[in-house]
Amino acid sequence: MLKALIVFSTRKGYTEGIAKEIAAGIRLEGVEAKMVNVINIKKAEDLEGYDAYLFGSATYGGQMMRGMETMLFMADNLDLEGKVGGSFGAFGWSGEAPGRIFDTMKNIFNMDMVKEPLRIKNIFKKGDKEIAQEYGREIGKKLKKEI
Ligand SMILES: Cc1cc2nc3c(=O)[nH]c(=O)nc-3n(C[C@H](O)[C@H](O)[C@H](O)COP(=O)(O)O)c2cc1C
Repeated sequence: MLKALIVFSTRKGYTEGIAKEIAAGIRLEGVEAKMVNVINIKKAEDLEGYDAYLFGSATYGGQMMRGMETMLFMADNLDLEGKVGGSFGAFGWSGEAPGRIFDTMKNIFNMDMVKEPLRIKNIFKKGDKEIAQEYGREIGKKLKKEI
């Protein structure tokens, strides 16, 4: 079975909320989805063995959270070339983190990225859950080579 790993970095839970909806969308496509808080990723091997990766962080002070940055350095020790990828994150006004994560996955890890990063202000608001689920479905379809 195809498997996706979703790693999120959050302070207040909004980015975790996005991760949950993405996971739901991936599962709707019949793909296994595992969610992990970045604080539980201790070494590069914790990231091994998946077909798709979604990395998400909220934006604080114009940046991704430090835990996510540390995890990206760990991921740089793995061979993720050609794996399906996506990025996401909650934000307040500028939302730089998802774009920076996306660019790292695309340009450094050479992953097969979905078309754009997902930025959602308030995942607990009606309507936004569906957008995050759709992002998960896109990942599932890309894995199954339907798009
Ligand atoms: C101290 C502080 C700094 C922030 N800096 C930014 C920022 O630079 N850009 C932005 O878009 N949002 C910023 N935010 C808003 C958060 O990204 C937003 O509240 C988000 O929903 C938090 O997601 P989380 O619950 O996953 O941590 C900031 C919030 C705080 C409290």
